[in-house]
Amino acid sequence: MHILVTGGVGYVGSHLVRALRDAGHGVVIVDDLSSGHRQTAPAGVELHVGSCGDAEVLDRAAAGGLPDAVMHLAAKCSVEESVAAPQRYYRANLSDSLGLMDWMVTRGVPWLVHSSTCAVYGAPRAQRIDEGVCARPMNPYGASKLAVDLALQAYDDAFDLRAVSLRYFNAAGAHPDGTLGEDKTPASNLIPILFAVALGQRDAVHVFGNDYPTPDGTGVRDYIHVMDLAAAHLAALDHLAGGGRGEVFNLGTGVGHSVREMVQRARAVTGEPLPTREAPRRAGDPPHLVADPRRAAATLGWRARFDIDDILSDAWRWRVAHPHGYAVEVAQ
Ligand code: WQD
Repeated sequence: MHILVTGGVGYVGSHLVRALRDAGHGVVIVDDLSSGHRQTAPAGVELHVGSCGDAEVLDRAAAGGLPDAVMHLAAKCSVEESVAAPQRYYRANLSDSLGLMDWMVTRGVPWLVHSSTCAVYGAPRAQRIDEGVCARPMNPYGASKLAVDLALQAYDDAFDLRAVSLRYFNAAGAHPDGTLGEDKTPASNLIPILFAVALGQRDAVHVFGNDYPTPDGTGVRDYIHVMDLAAAHLAALDHLAGGGRGEVFNLGTGVGHSVREMVQRARAVTGEPLPTREAPRRAGDPPHLVADPRRAAATLGWRARFDIDDILSDAWRWRVAHPHGYAVEVAQ
């Protein structure tokens, strides 16, 4: 099929584009380059730079033929930034998504796979979070993503635009061949920070809170390999192409790991001491976020194939080969 990927030179997007091409699909990318890296676009894949909600940009991207489906990954995704600048998050994540959805309805593009997030749930008490857990987002990032999920359900009812929303837990890892990885500046997620300390780019890992109601007092998360996320998008596409209805799926391993445990594991993978500093809790951090991925297994036949050791070894391999991310190293 021919697939339009918004955010296709971003972290998850670049891995998805690679997976779509490997599966024999045609791909065209729309990305505003606000955080992505154009060098991740494979040779022969068109990259149209602009907003995913701009009909002119979308028409240019579709000049060679309308896509059979859209994978919508373009978004702002920093919890911290969303609290400081909510207007940018509602505009980028909600308004631009509505522009894309209106374009799809007008042009008759029938299927959409939406990159959503576990942040829609806020801080639920459930030890494992299934899709029936009440969504109470704690920040504008999660709220803007939930608004898109809800709008997609309304567009499905009104216009038969069928959509699957994939609620990622903690996206992590890198392509096993070492050519693609996570390069966000400034790094705010735990795993890139662990490796920045291992490379001597930071002095210590600041552990945000040690008094959470968790086994060792530090935050617990469900880290899901970016390759598993890419595979879930292909499974969602097959679901829609096979006549499947619009659905929401939580994407995680179902296994949680605490910050302290991640520090220990990173010490083992890197062979570096990784000094830590106890620090106050970070505003907006829930204590425990672990998926119940059973619905994706039952309906999409999808389950995570990579575990936490794969995540850390793949991410470390990429970081060692790209200590400064995708930036072209300036000859000294
Ligand atoms: C993980 C754990 C921190 C940094 C992220 C994105 C969010 C969403 C889900 C996509 C937490 C702790 C972190 C550090 C620490 N992405 N930590 N010291 O916040 O769970 O959510 O993934 O939808 O957009 O923010 O990920 O990696 O920032 O934090 O102690 O220097 O590590 O408190 O418990 P998070 P994270």
